[in-house]
Amino acid sequence: MSGINFFRTEDLEGITEFYMEELDMDLWLDQEYCKILKHGNMILGFCESETKDEGGTITFFYSRKEKVDEMYEKFKSSARDEPSENERFDIYQFFAEDPEGRTLEFQTFLHQLKPYMDGEELLKKRRSVRSYRHKKIPKNILEDIFENCRYAPTSKNSQSYYFVPIEDEEMIRFMAERRGRNSAPIGEAPMAVAICVDHKKTGRPKQDGDIAAYHLMLAAWLHGLGTCWIAAMDREDVKDKLGIPQDHYVATVTPLGYPKEIPEVPERKEAEDFVESIR
Ligand SMILES: Cc1cc2nc3c(=O)[nH]c(=O)nc-3n(C[C@H](O)[C@H](O)[C@H](O)COP(=O)(O)O)c2cc1C
Repeated sequence: MSGINFFRTEDLEGITEFYMEELDMDLWLDQEYCKILKHGNMILGFCESETKDEGGTITFFYSRKEKVDEMYEKFKSSARDEPSENERFDIYQFFAEDPEGRTLEFQTFLHQLKPYMDGEELLKKRRSVRSYRHKKIPKNILEDIFENCRYAPTSKNSQSYYFVPIEDEEMIRFMAERRGRNSAPIGEAPMAVAICVDHKKTGRPKQDGDIAAYHLMLAAWLHGLGTCWIAAMDREDVKDKLGIPQDHYVATVTPLGYPKEIPEVPERKEAEDFVESIR
């Protein structure tokens, strides 16, 4: 199920501009008298009316405190208070107002959250992360990520892939040093995962393993966890160290952890540059 929160407005044009310009929302659906705006999983509808709805609180939440501070700098003039921690709800927040007096709240949760990302954000915002916070990943989050990985496609549904989580510091260092700069990101994270395939279970070990690895990367990102494909880890020394049989395929060994920073999107081609005309 999906949903939209609608509000009546006396100034459709002005309020639409405010939410699009100041809060970075996109026009998701234009119904002329109602404009429906979207950002991430937040969908708000504003409809032209002779009266306005002012009740309730529209809460924007971010993954980091710094982002809340950034929003405070932007909305300082309409802010009702400075950002502060609210121990009762374990959040960091401040309140402000939109141009029609609706309460806006900007916050970050200081505790773990269940996934809330929408598909577009999942696909467009995943990045190769090369620096990580020193924060252990809770067991239930790891379990949830691996649970989602049950649904990766495989040749003839062979389900030939398996994952080797690595937390041992010496082993992580070993992996990180295998390929110099290219493998260094493994050494930055609190853990790594090797994505492997038992070739006896499938006719397509490479495809099964590569897809399972990308599936893991998306499942991790759904929880705000970073990964990075480290190439050429299907090596004798890596397999030896991890106790993986030499005839198994290692798609990659990815670092896994909470990003210290999320890199900007490297330049991307336009779709028309890689989609050929229909034949
Ligand atoms: C097959 C493959 C091999 C890669 N090898 C490495 C690597 O060895 N080290 C690394 O830091 N990044 C590696 N990457 C990550 C790419 O550099 C990255 O995906 C690309 O720059 C686009 O950035 P993005 O993933 O943030 O969108 C690899 C990615 C792929 C798909």
